[in-house]
Formats: sequence, structure tokens, C-alpha cells
Amino acid sequence: MDWSSYAHVYDIMASNNPSYQDIVKQAISEFADIPIPDGGIIADLGAGTGNFSIAIAGLKPNAIIHHVDNNPQMIALAREKAAQQKISNIQFINSDTTEYLNNAGKLHAVISVHAIYPLSHPKEAISGIYEKLAPNGHLVVCDLGRILDIKDWAFYFFRKNVVQNGFLYTLKMFYRGRTVSAHNKVIANNQKSGIYWTHTTEEFKETLQQAGFHVSRIMPMYRDYSDFAVAKKAGSKRSSGAV
Ligand SMILES: C[S@@+](CC[C@H](N)C(=O)[O-])C[C@H]1O[C@@H](n2cnc3c(N)ncnc32)[C@H](O)[C@@H]1O
Repeated sequence: MDWSSYAHVYDIMASNNPSYQDIVKQAISEFADIPIPDGGIIADLGAGTGNFSIAIAGLKPNAIIHHVDNNPQMIALAREKAAQQKISNIQFINSDTTEYLNNAGKLHAVISVHAIYPLSHPKEAISGIYEKLAPNGHLVVCDLGRILDIKDWAFYFFRKNVVQNGFLYTLKMFYRGRTVSAHNKVIANNQKSGIYWTHTTEEFKETLQQAGFHVSRIMPMYRDYSDFAVAKKAGSKRSSGAV
């Protein structure tokens, strides 16, 4: 999968896809309730163009956000957006998620959106997140679980955008973002051939629980193609409630 060429059209998809915007809203509202100590670390794994890391950095100005991605183009776009918004509490880390987790210190919260399924060992990565979280640390995660149906998405985009933005805007958006469906085809093929992890909502919940997490929220999102969860690592017996 060539994430570099996807990087340049990624935000065309993101800003014109209401179901992606629903994930942003849901994740940010979950983070609003998560206490993070001053200087605490929040990692965004597979953070892409920064649609989550930058919003969370704004929401938690006293935290340090680790924006982790192994694609330099994605990181460059995110860095530019953070600078435009004068967000300075983000560190951009060009790293594979697994490698980052192997070397990370204690994390106070983790977010990962549509970036667990492409990993070679997604279940081990979820266990790795659990290990690195501090007691009472939270994971907010949304992961693509079902095989993308390209025609279904094209139809959805068209319908939503014609209604909201008009026919001409929609045609221009399709033209500018014409490589999005080519990228999604590659993702779908990798899902079909088992290179990418697919799961039901129940399987995703079980994976989180098997890693040790208490799952406080689990629901299908992204038009039922993905699973959204909020999961917590139990507090240590000696430290009552400290994050
Ligand atoms: C579908 S995008 C999601 C981006 C972002 N989380 C969002 O929802 O807007 C997947 C991201 O995962 C990154 N990625 C893929 N494999 C990775 C890996 N092994 N380690 C770190 N990042 C990875 C890609 O570069 C890409 O930015």
C-alpha cells in the first residue's frame, strides 16, 4: 500500500466524508473526559495528516502529543497543519507503530484511527499499547473491520455531497480526489487476501479484552465498516486513581 500518494488526497476524503467527521467528533468528545496530567503523553498511532492529533493537542494544551506515523508525506502535511494552527505541543515521530511501542516510555492515553488493521501484527500491537499505558490510561480506537465496498462508498460520497454542496462542487471533488477510490481498492484487496486484519465488532471487543482492557464503549461506526471503542487499563492496586 502506497500511503505516500494517498497522503495528498487524504484530506479531500476526510473533509468531504460525513462519516469520517463523525469519528473525529466522537473521539474528541471522548478525550474531553479523559484526565491527562500536565506533561502527560498522548500517542496517536498511525496519525496520518493529523486530523486527530492536532485536535487533541488543542484540547489538551498541557499534554504532549506523539504523532506517530511511518510515512514522511503524511507527517509533512500534519506538521504544516499544526504550524498553521499554531499548535506546538506535538512531537512528530517518523516510526513504525510496533517499533515506537517497543521503545516508548509510559503513555497516558493512546488514540489510533484506521491504523491498526494495516499492521502486520495488529493483535500484538493492541497488547503493546496496553503494556505501555499507565494505570488508568485510556485507549480511544477506531479500526476498519469490514471489507470496503468501493461502489457503495462512491455512491455515498456522491449522494451526501450533492445534497450538501451541490452538483458542481461534487464533480470537482471527485476529480480532485479521483485517486482515493484507487487507494481504497488496494485496501479492499489487501483485506480480501488477508494481508489486512478484518474483524466483527464482537471480535474487536474480544481482542481488546484479551489484551487486558476494560472496554467501556464499543460500537460500529463509519457506516458499519469500522469499530469504535474506548478501553481502559485498570489502575494499579497501590495507586488509587492517579493517571
Ligand atoms: C487510513 S490512514 C489513517 C490516518 C489517521 N489516523 C486518520 O484517521 O486520519 C492510516 C495511516 O497509518 C499509517 N501507517 C500504516 N502502516 C503503519 C505502520 N506500520 N506504522 C505506522 N504508521 C502506519 C499510514 O501512513 C497512514 O497515515
